[in-house]
Amino acid sequence: MGALSANSRPPRLRRAGIGLVAVALALAGCGGSSLDQSGGGESGGPVKIGLLVPLSGVYAPLGEDMRAGFQLYLDQHGGKLGGRQAEVVTADEGEGPQTGVPAAQKLVTQDQVAAVVGVVNSATALGLRDFFDESKRPLVVANAGANELAGARRSDYLWRTSFTNGDVGEALGPAVKDDVDGEVYLIAADYAAGKESTGGFRKSFEAAGGKIAGSEFTPFGKTQDFQPYLSAIRDSGADAVYAFYAGAEAVNFVKQYKEFGLADEVQLYGPGFLTEGGVLAAQGQAALGVQTSLHYSTELDSPRNKEFSAAYTAKVKKPPTVYSVQAYDSAAVLDKALAAAPGASGPELAKAIGGVGAIDSPRGSWSFGADHDPEQTYYLREVRSGGGGIVNGVVRELD
Ligand code: BEZ
Repeated sequence: MGALSANSRPPRLRRAGIGLVAVALALAGCGGSSLDQSGGGESGGPVKIGLLVPLSGVYAPLGEDMRAGFQLYLDQHGGKLGGRQAEVVTADEGEGPQTGVPAAQKLVTQDQVAAVVGVVNSATALGLRDFFDESKRPLVVANAGANELAGARRSDYLWRTSFTNGDVGEALGPAVKDDVDGEVYLIAADYAAGKESTGGFRKSFEAAGGKIAGSEFTPFGKTQDFQPYLSAIRDSGADAVYAFYAGAEAVNFVKQYKEFGLADEVQLYGPGFLTEGGVLAAQGQAALGVQTSLHYSTELDSPRNKEFSAAYTAKVKKPPTVYSVQAYDSAAVLDKALAAAPGASGPELAKAIGGVGAIDSPRGSWSFGADHDPEQTYYLREVRSGGGGIVNGVVRELD
């Protein structure tokens, strides 16, 4: 068992609730209705936006991509959101809620931002849900896929430009059942995202008649040597593996999977985070043939993606990733919402976010659904050699 169990909030945060929000706001000198007015500044003047992404820990590279995506949007729009000069205050989410929650609270209570964008880790997002709901300030989640945020714990103040963990896994189940004549082993980082991703995959795979050979959850942020887990996979006799890892853990898992000799025997599948961006570059040849589901690939053959990809690569000197696209789209959401709610009070802005309509994204046009998540297409991707490097080629759309 890792630091956090599925959907759990650390005890310190579970106890916090309303009291913690009230204390934080009182210390910052904000009370009651005045809170609704803070963060937005003078209508037409500059607007402060908090960017909360991991700058340290196992997900730091994802945070870098998000920062670059958000900044590219600003560069392309004269540094403005909703016609107002955007002042971006960046804070480090770190590896989880212990660092991410206080960093977000500081953005709202001390820096007085109008909205916060970012959050990679599901446990951090779950730990932040009540704070944003109670302080009536919008949080635009640009990655963390915690299922509950689109279900039982949905909030008027939480909107997500990324995905729900279960959906990304669920999209892949029937495709794997079609391709694999045998059983699948599940392995994942031991926290909300790993549990939900494998849970979504299991649901649709079993519904299609598939059988699970076994499962294992590895301590999140601490596992570097996967050999004992790879032995267990081989001993299970599985014909394929579904793995949830991202960032540094994905690099180690895929490289060791190849070194251990499993890549040639047991087809590896996962959500696209397993082979995304810098992770894929570090895995190199070891990742060839890995198949994943995701709502973005650099290889999507659309004029919008080509234009975005060229601009991003020219500026950042590496190809974009799903993380940069999600942050880029978050800026687009805020741009439209701030134009519609010039005062930028929390409640007005949250309402305006719900009304932004279609977002013209590099992933394809999408809109928020009733669950505050994007309604979007998932693709089956396969790691291939291409364009002088290694890419996530698009095989087909998933149902
Ligand atoms: C999550 O915690 O929800 C997550 C983290 C990295 C990649 C995908 C999902």
